[in-house]
Amino acid sequence: MIEITNNVYYVGVNDRNKSLFEGLWPLPNGVSYNSYLIVDEKVCLIDTVEVDFFVQFIENIHEVLGDRKIDYLVINHMEPDHSGGLALLKKYYPEIQVVGNKKTFDMMSGFYGIKENTMEMKNGETLSLGQHSLQFFMTPMVHWPETMMTLYQGKESVLFSGDGFGSFGALNGGIIDREINTDWCWMEMVRYYSNIVGKYGTPVQNALKKLAGIHFDYICSTHGPVWNKYVEKVAGMYDQMSKYETEPGLVICYGTMYGNTERMAEQIARAASLAGVKNIAMYNVSKTHHSYILRDIFRFRGLIVGAPTYNTGLYHEMDVLLSEIANRDIKNHLIGWFGSYSWAGKAVAAIGEWNEKRLHFEPVGEPVEMKQALTPEKKEECQRLGREMAARLLTE
Ligand code: FEO
Repeated sequence: MIEITNNVYYVGVNDRNKSLFEGLWPLPNGVSYNSYLIVDEKVCLIDTVEVDFFVQFIENIHEVLGDRKIDYLVINHMEPDHSGGLALLKKYYPEIQVVGNKKTFDMMSGFYGIKENTMEMKNGETLSLGQHSLQFFMTPMVHWPETMMTLYQGKESVLFSGDGFGSFGALNGGIIDREINTDWCWMEMVRYYSNIVGKYGTPVQNALKKLAGIHFDYICSTHGPVWNKYVEKVAGMYDQMSKYETEPGLVICYGTMYGNTERMAEQIARAASLAGVKNIAMYNVSKTHHSYILRDIFRFRGLIVGAPTYNTGLYHEMDVLLSEIANRDIKNHLIGWFGSYSWAGKAVAAIGEWNEKRLHFEPVGEPVEMKQALTPEKKEECQRLGREMAARLLTE
């Protein structure tokens, strides 16, 4: 039995089996699906877990409650990694009242055919559990339209935040941040944010405004550690990320077939380094999963991308990455680009079109286009691009 604070228990599970979250994002260290029980005069469960882990989940619940029934299930988020246990839970607790909002119940009906025993909440409304109460905040698009957060005002106050403030990574024994070495958490939290929630910077800002001025001792997200020691730090990180604020660093990512385009990237990187840029992240888009590249694009203001021409178009992996960047509506970035071709050039123009039509980053320097292999002139053009990006990054 894992008690977070007075009468609030952790009943979540770890998934160290799945390779890709949402079928897309690598989970080298697994992921947790967090769920919590509040035991007051009424018993309230906050979210469920992915259905594959239901047996472990119900054991965790029984360990806390024994034969006592659950009165309420608050659904902060309907994505099936959290609502997947709902239909089975109803078989154990058929009279459970499901607490959510109008959009929650539309989705609950669609996913699971469940329509009865619902209790609809609006922003700011409260529900008494006896000694203490819950208050609900509608936080749409953090991460789906129905998403809400729930504040428990007990002896210590706890914010149940859904996906907000979550992280990839299973919980290996320690649940609360002060119990674990959190070094691994920060980059996995940024990767989680940038890949899963990153498109919704404005809704995250709106959610933070709704929560402004409210004190909470704990943030209990649906993924990753329970935050206690680092509540202020993670709230600050979310504020910064959702404003698309960055550090003065540079991501250089490239596609390459035989190393010629990669040599251009090396020239750019060395020139940027000599000019004084200390944070340079460099990735071959065919080797490193895009989720890590997106993470660093969220961190650093500068981006330089390059790729060969392929089938008279843009190298496919770069095309996919640019689509993923565009899909997240990332703001406040600088971009430079380069590319190569063997007999007919298209890559450089295609990257330029991506930026003009979808990314809308501020161009820096002249794009460099190379035929076949580096010449002294092309080396100098690459170095100039690196220097010009460095100059912008270092003078801001
Ligand atoms: Fe963890 Fe949006 O689900």
